[in-house]
Order: sequence, then structure tokens, then C-alpha cells
Amino acid sequence: MEIKKNYSLKSLHTFNMDVDGKYFCEVASVAELREALQFAKSQRTEMLVLGGGSNVLFTTGFEGLVIKINMAGKEVVREDEKYVWVKSGGGENWDRFVAYCVDHGYGGIENLSLIPGCVGAGPIQNIGAYGVELKDHFESLEFYHFNSGALEVFEREDCNFGYRNSIFKNELKGKGVILSVTLKLDKIHVLKTGYGSIQQELVKLDKDVYTISDLRNVVTSIRQSKLPDPEEIGNAGSFFKNPEVSAQTFSSLKVDYPDIVGYPIENGNMKLAAGWLIDQCGWKGFRDGDAGVHAKQALVLVNYGSASGKEIYDLSEKIKISVKEKFGVNLEREVNVV
Ligand code: FAD
Ligand code: EPU
Repeated sequence: MEIKKNYSLKSLHTFNMDVDGKYFCEVASVAELREALQFAKSQRTEMLVLGGGSNVLFTTGFEGLVIKINMAGKEVVREDEKYVWVKSGGGENWDRFVAYCVDHGYGGIENLSLIPGCVGAGPIQNIGAYGVELKDHFESLEFYHFNSGALEVFEREDCNFGYRNSIFKNELKGKGVILSVTLKLDKIHVLKTGYGSIQQELVKLDKDVYTISDLRNVVTSIRQSKLPDPEEIGNAGSFFKNPEVSAQTFSSLKVDYPDIVGYPIENGNMKLAAGWLIDQCGWKGFRDGDAGVHAKQALVLVNYGSASGKEIYDLSEKIKISVKEKFGVNLEREVNVV
């Protein structure tokens, strides 16, 4: 395992800022990870774990060791007549993992198609899209603790999964590495088609029976029509989470803003569409230099080329303030700011 110095992180994160890691290495095994930790200890330097870099904003370079996770491999570890348990290395590309599952007839995560990044980062914010969250099919993961060097298995109830949240984004943030993830997938498929325009798009296929592969294709094409491709325009997907308000607050907002977009959640509160709130504040399509707000999705902040992380961060602050002033609603960032 090679440690590189003053290494450019530009191609290793989807906002594409030209920032350096003071030290950089890639690890594909626990042995290599241990070597990296030993190096960081000897240099008394901080560590930053990176998967696909699709949920980070670098406001500055990283003055420590950046560790890119490359643990590979996919295998069926168990199956019965209804389910199949598939284990994946944390460094596998998430969308390629979804494609592998769909191709083998393992159902459940097809709605999570085309989410960028690696399998190991999926549990961190309990990735979600089109009516499905990772936790719905989560079985367990293996976590390597930096301090103790212990390898611990986390089951679903240990992970404190919530909307775009888990123990790994809170108490265990920066405390270790998710080495692998095991999901429990369906042999008997239950297609979730209730979200947004999925059903309308499926109908266009003009078939009697839809498959998980059809669903993957439809979700992929809806996403391609709405979200900017990080290969073309730097971004990290939704910059903020959709905020939660009480049913009472929602009713009062509805009086002033009859078109406000919100839906009820399990605890009786309402989830508001942050994209709608930001859009109503006039930010959609905004651009200042190379920092901007995507023209088709106001929840996505974009780097058109040479915006700095600080410029994107400052823009996000302005957006937060204007949403607070207009609607009295606090926005919380989804993206991990470094
Ligand atoms: P990174 O950005 O590399 O890391 C994210 C955080 O996790 C960092 O704090 C990092 O230190 C930590 N980390 C990464 N890997 C590990 C590991 N193995 N062990 C421990 N810590 C680790 N998200 C959704 O939930 N739903 C969506 O629909 C969605 N759509 C997106 C669309 C676009 C165009 C983009 C750019 C992003 C989107 N995202 C979405 C956000 C992002 O893709 C996910 O959060 C993804 O899981 C991040 O994976 P990553 O490997 O890129 O993580
Ligand atoms: N809307 C607007 N204007 C906008 C954007 C959205 O009015 O500029 C309205 C839409 O018309 C719609 C509502 O807001 O009525 C919700 O929009 P959309 O369906 O695009 O979803 P979202 O809430 O903006 C969330 C996730 C996405 C996920 C999609 C699909 C969060 C923070 N974002 O977006 O996840 O892909 O739903 O399930 O929950 C991510 O986390 O990075 C991400 C992209």
C-alpha cells in the first residue's frame, strides 16, 4: 500500500473541487487499512474515509490522511425459498451492485438505482429514493473501529436508521470503516411503484406484467431527466434534507401557501419538500460565478467548473436564511462538509 503526498482529490469527489489531501492511500483489505492507520498514528494526523465522494463538500483541502475504500467482492451468503442474503464489499460501486442484484433476480433495491457512491456509504445516511430506503433490506454490516482495532457486526436495530440518518452519521462518525454490507433481498418480487411518476412511466411500457428490471430502467430514466450527472456538472445530489414540521405548522403554512408540498410521516408530523421551498424563494437556476442552483431541481447545488467549496457553502447559507425568513423553516444540510 502506497501513501501519496499532496494528492489531488478533484477526481475523487463529485463536486470536483481542486483540493488536496496532505496524504492519500487506497485500501482493499483489513491488512492495508491497518497499515494506513499505523501511518496516520505515526504522523499524529487526522483521517478521512472516502467512498465515491458523492456526498461530501470540501471547503478546504484535508490536512491529514485521506483513505479511499476499495474493499471488493459480492457473494450470496445464504438463501431460502423466499429470500437471498447478498454480501458486498464496502468499496463496490452501489449502482453496479444494484444492477448485479436485478440481473440475478434479487428484488428490493431496484428503486435505489443510479444513486452514486459505494456500498459501504449506503448505511451511513440510510440512502433512499422512490419510496425505498436501504434499511428496508438491510441485514448487517461489518465495522472496523479505529481506536480498538475491533471488527464489530451491526444488525439493523444497532444502526439507529432514520431518514437520511444512522449511528454512523452521529456517534460513530469518523470512528471507523464500514467494510462490508449484507442485504436481505426478495426472490418473490414486490414492486414499489407508488412514488412520483413511476406508475405513469411504467404504463408507457405497455406490458401486462412489470419486472424489477423495468422498475430499475424507469427509475434510472426519471433520475436522468431531473438530476445533473456529476460527470458533467459537479454536485452531491440533494444538498439539504427535506425538513420535518408539526401537522399544525403545516396547516398554518398551507393557509398562506396553498400549493406547499408536504406529506405525512409515521410520527404524525409532516415532511416538506425542501426543493419546493427553495424554488419558491426564487433560487432555481441561480448562478454566481461557477456556484449555482440546478435549473431543474432547486435542492441540488452545483459547481459549473471552478467554484470553491467555500462559495458553495456560502450559497447554501444564503438559501437557508431566505427559506427561514419566508417560511420560518430550518433547513439542515444532508451533505458532509469537510
Ligand atoms: P462519500 O461521499 O465518499 O462519503 C460520505 C460520508 O461517508 C463521508 O462522511 C465519508 O467519510 C463516509 N464514508 C464513506 N464510505 C465509508 C465507509 N466505507 N466507512 C465509513 N465511512 C464512510 N443519496 C440518497 O440517499 N438518495 C439519492 O437519491 C441520492 N441521489 C444522488 C444523486 C446525485 C447526482 C448525487 C451526486 C448524490 C446523490 N445521493 C443520494 C448522495 C450520495 O450518492 C449517497 O449519500 C451515497 O451513499 C454516498 O456514497 P459515497 O461512497 O460517495 O460516500
Ligand atoms: N420541487 C419543486 N421545485 C424544485 C424541486 C422540487 O417544486 O426545484 C417539488 C417537486 O415538484 C415535488 C417535490 O418538490 O413535488 C419533491 O421533489 P422530488 O420528487 O424531486 O424529490 P425531492 O424531495 O426533491 C428526494 C430525495 C432525493 C431522492 C428523491 C426521489 C431528499 C433530501 N432528497 O428529493 O435524494 O432521489 O426524493 O425519492 O430526501 C439525495 O438524497 O441526494 C437525493 C437526490
